[in-house]
Amino acid sequence: MAQPSSTLDRVLVLEMVRVTEAAAIAASKLIGRGDEKAADAAAVEAMRLAFNNLAIDGTIVIGEGEPDEAPMLYVGEKVGNAAGSGPRIDIALDPLEGTTITAKAGPNALSVLAISEEGGLLNAPDVYMDKLAVGPGYPDGVIDLNRSVRDNVEAVAAAKGVEPADIIVCVLDRPRHEKLIGQLRAIGCGIMLIPDGDIAGVIATTNPETAIDIYMGSGGAPEGVLACAALRCVGGQFKGRLLFRNDDEKSRARKWGIADLDKIYDLKELAKGDCIFAATGVTDGSLLSGVKRLPGGKLTTQSVVMRASTGTVRWVKGEHRVEPKRF
Ligand code: FBP
Repeated sequence: MAQPSSTLDRVLVLEMVRVTEAAAIAASKLIGRGDEKAADAAAVEAMRLAFNNLAIDGTIVIGEGEPDEAPMLYVGEKVGNAAGSGPRIDIALDPLEGTTITAKAGPNALSVLAISEEGGLLNAPDVYMDKLAVGPGYPDGVIDLNRSVRDNVEAVAAAKGVEPADIIVCVLDRPRHEKLIGQLRAIGCGIMLIPDGDIAGVIATTNPETAIDIYMGSGGAPEGVLACAALRCVGGQFKGRLLFRNDDEKSRARKWGIADLDKIYDLKELAKGDCIFAATGVTDGSLLSGVKRLPGGKLTTQSVVMRASTGTVRWVKGEHRVEPKRF
């Protein structure tokens, strides 16, 4: 079979699952323990260790923060043990997407990463992003951030062949979304309010079993890029616009090379070229089952790994014997 031309070695596909599994297993020890920071720290440490075992020349473009804010997996950090000789890849990661969810044992906490060829993933600053997403199968341009909420819902409903009131929209449950929720209620849409975890929320639009048609609202910009890497592999449309709360956030964005602060980004501008997306469930959710600790010290994990150039999606069930030194 012809292989896609890319510097991303196909061997890396499964290696990425090892990385998200390690982070998810580490975080899972802290599920329901009420300590978000400890859960995040465990995931970060395990993910970094797993990356540094790989023969790659990796650069983190979306990570735990800027070098002065994050001790590990910060933006610009080099990972992998083959600097100068291994494949040069850019990495976007979120070792624990859903720190609060994990602390409260809620649904949809994930360990997530995306890798691309150099320059493939937008170096998004840690600010909010207004997001609008639908799954595959709709005509190009069915969603548009310049149009009203009602116009977007009506366009998706018309393309799906249903009434606007039949559309289900996923929205982060936040006070800042009060107006959006009011507009959706006025149309009569079903609204799935999620407590956290908008990467899973965006990806849920691609899975008919979730019944979610549209993702709307603001969340982290880095999470937007990660969600786009997944949509690039499975199909769907995404529009995103960075939102700035103050001048400091604007100057941070400029420092990271973003000139047009009002730009509306399309899927392929946030994640372009070949990319691989991998996620492992920490707690049970719409995308993946969480880590399970079985009698006898066995652990099970569920992961998904997908690649943009081929569109292949692999669901990986892992059974692990606990190795206290590693996990
Ligand atoms: P954390 O894992 O960093 O807590 O992020 C969870 C999350 O819900 C993201 O999925 C989302 O993009 C972001 O937080 C929303 O931010 P906020 O909680 O400030 O509304």
